[in-house]
Amino acid sequence: MCGIIGYAGLSPALPYLLKGLEQLEYRGYDSAGIAIMEESGPRVVKSVGSTARLKERIAGEQLPGSVGIGHTRWATHGAPSEANAHPQWAGPLYIVHNGIVENERVLREGLVADGEVFASDTDTETIVRLIYRTMKGGSGFSESVRRVLSLLEGSYSFLIAHADLEEPLIAVHRGAPLLLGACTHGVFVASDMTAFPVEVHSTIPLEKDDMVTIRADGRFEIISLAHSREREAKLVSRSHHGVHGKGEYPHYMFKEICEQPEMLGALLSGKIRRENGLLNVRFAAETEKVLSRARRIRIVGCGTSFHAGLLGKYRIESLAGIPVEVDIASEFRYRNPILDPENDLLIALTQSGETADTLAAIRMARASGVPTLALVNVEGSTATREADASIFLEAGPEFGVAATKTFLSQIAILTLIALRLSSDSRLAERTGLSKGGILEAFLKIPMLLDKSLSLSTGVTGIARRLAESRSVLFMGRGGDFPLALEGALKLKEITYIHAEGYAGGELKHGPLALVEEGTPVLSLLSPDPQLVPKMVSNMKETLSRGAFLISIGSDHYLDEFSPVSSMSLSLPDCPPVLFPLVAAVPLQLLAYHTACFKGLDVDRPRNLAKSVTVE
Ligand code: AGP
Repeated sequence: MCGIIGYAGLSPALPYLLKGLEQLEYRGYDSAGIAIMEESGPRVVKSVGSTARLKERIAGEQLPGSVGIGHTRWATHGAPSEANAHPQWAGPLYIVHNGIVENERVLREGLVADGEVFASDTDTETIVRLIYRTMKGGSGFSESVRRVLSLLEGSYSFLIAHADLEEPLIAVHRGAPLLLGACTHGVFVASDMTAFPVEVHSTIPLEKDDMVTIRADGRFEIISLAHSREREAKLVSRSHHGVHGKGEYPHYMFKEICEQPEMLGALLSGKIRRENGLLNVRFAAETEKVLSRARRIRIVGCGTSFHAGLLGKYRIESLAGIPVEVDIASEFRYRNPILDPENDLLIALTQSGETADTLAAIRMARASGVPTLALVNVEGSTATREADASIFLEAGPEFGVAATKTFLSQIAILTLIALRLSSDSRLAERTGLSKGGILEAFLKIPMLLDKSLSLSTGVTGIARRLAESRSVLFMGRGGDFPLALEGALKLKEITYIHAEGYAGGELKHGPLALVEEGTPVLSLLSPDPQLVPKMVSNMKETLSRGAFLISIGSDHYLDEFSPVSSMSLSLPDCPPVLFPLVAAVPLQLLAYHTACFKGLDVDRPRNLAKSVTVE
């Protein structure tokens, strides 16, 4: 997904733009560029590849201008190339853009028919040429922007600079996230908070249909195009939690995996309360309201968030006895789901809060009168503004493209929701534990995560073996099945090794044909007395076909699974319902170390972005 940053104020813009683009790298990109409005005229520098390449291209140039824009591009219209990199320009106008203009082709054809000659394949150039042509027709800068906006269809945001004006910058939010950040010497606009320098003391998350005109001295005015009037917006003081780079860690992903014990401890301390000596789960009032009325729960998400949702289904149905349907968001929105506003609750899982398909599912539910609850990591994101209620993952900024701590927070919160909706009698019947007993055990999980992290040496031995593999199968039963899907996704998305997750009982229905001498098969074994023997027999099925068996299980059943495994990790014991939280860590470490052995870019895997704001 593209990254946007802009500045207008009293200081030179360039250093802030370059640092901000570095901070936006985690979003995934293939080229970068900047434009600085200099006294002598605008100066544009663009390059394919990393921001380091861009810096090399700029090295030595004196660019003291105090108005500028910058961009990291994740190609949608047109291949990665210098010509297609942003900023794009026309006349005195320079633009950086995130999102897609869906009717770009017909607009471009009109301009070409009028004699315009395009320098790029981007929809971004179409926008800036339309605005410039409107200005040449006699309209002012902001009026021209407004008029062109009425022609553009799609979900996007852009920042456009005018080389000659006192009001040199206009920011437009039409669906892709954009924030304002204020400091003593000027104002920033960026795709997300991470691009802002530490001196930004307060921010304003822009809303859809906001248009901001920014003066050279950093003063600004927000117009709501939807209501054609100025929008009062309060500056929110900015929390600097976690926005401090990798520190001593080699990669963001490893840092974020290691942050999980502390993150989970903080999350649980805010959700598990001791009332009259009894432990219970408590959410905010608006969340309690939508949960209490749910007779059927619809969960939607993409990728890792979908896997978390699948695990949520297992927990909510088993512990609370409430039916749950889980959908991949991009399927949900087109399969015509039967929604029941009287009984349904839609839970949307999206760490970024900007995934286009998940947002579309929220909008579908709302249009049908179904209440919506979003589990989101990014405060101020679109999902938090559009859902009826939100639960923040409180995982802190996650820069690695591969979701780790946000996944852990999602499955923790979904398990808490299941416990919140359960009755003591049902819990005792299903788990043999009271609600208080499970919550006591839950509060100990951060300590067990610490122990899981210390297994890093065992994990690296397995990772070294996987790094030589062409294909890996993951399998689990019950709550371990969604975990197997997630372990496979982690491995494939950062090591590029083909991997698939299966239900343990499913291999003999086809996938077993994939197993040949030495095929790595990784089994997950929660300490569930009913499922462990079944999983061990599934493991033996693969062993008899030559599989290289790897097992990750509770040390309570080590004697069952270790003898049939070529390599195994034994994890600290805990109630089966909480085991996926403990087992998630070694699966994440396994993918991480395997990618390191392969010398790959762990934090920015090829072809992927941290948040997919396009369909
Ligand atoms: C997970 O490691 C991937 N980065 C990806 O599958 C991600 O989970 C998916 O794109 C959903 O993102 P979201 O949670 O921000 O909606």
